[in-house]
Amino acid sequence: MRFIGVSLLTERLLLRPVREGDEAALVSGLDDPEVARWLESVPSPYTLRDARAWIERCAREREAGFMQDFAITLAERGELVGGISITPSRVEPFAEIGYWIARAHWSNGYGGEALARVVRHASEECSPRFERLRARVDPANTPSRRMLERAGFVERGVSVDNGVERVRYER
Ligand SMILES: CC(C)(COP(=O)(O)OP(=O)(O)OC[C@H]1O[C@@H](n2cnc3c(N)ncnc32)[C@H](O)[C@@H]1OP(=O)(O)O)[C@@H](O)C(=O)NCCC(=O)NCCS
Repeated sequence: MRFIGVSLLTERLLLRPVREGDEAALVSGLDDPEVARWLESVPSPYTLRDARAWIERCAREREAGFMQDFAITLAERGELVGGISITPSRVEPFAEIGYWIARAHWSNGYGGEALARVVRHASEECSPRFERLRARVDPANTPSRRMLERAGFVERGVSVDNGVERVRYER
């Protein structure tokens, strides 16, 4: 399996599997309309019950070799500041990436740093590696689009999923 239990280190961050004990930090970051509005399928308001269900789901999917969700933590303090997930397609050698950073930590470069590390892992280090990575973004989400472009993703057009417009990026 490509991801089971993998942790990834960057200059300032430790990306590790989301786990029991992360509930309060998940609620603190995700129970924020300014974060949730950009994310598909994140309940709003976001409660402890949602966090518990998410942690359980992540553990199940990790064990099945499907989605890996990393908690983005500050390497020195251990504080959880966001999340980044990678979901392999079940039929193609592709994977979809999604992420968030808690509002108090925006614009410190953490999003870009975490994305670059996950991209490196997915396209160079893991075995078998992914031939292509994908992300879908609200056209108005300038920071996220900028992050993807900095990480080498290119725009592949716009699609409408369930009535919602998304710019498709690939790398
Ligand atoms: C998108 C998000 C993850 C960015 O996280 P971050 O840690 O603040 O990102 P970074 O600090 O690495 O900055 C990313 C880029 O966006 C730019 N940026 C940051 N805030 C910005 C803003 N308000 N407007 C325009 N650009 C902005 C940064 O300058 C940087 O570009 P640069 O590398 O050219 O300097 C964060 O804003 C977030 O969690 N948003 C809500 C959830 C979300 O949108 N998830 C993605 C769904 S596709």
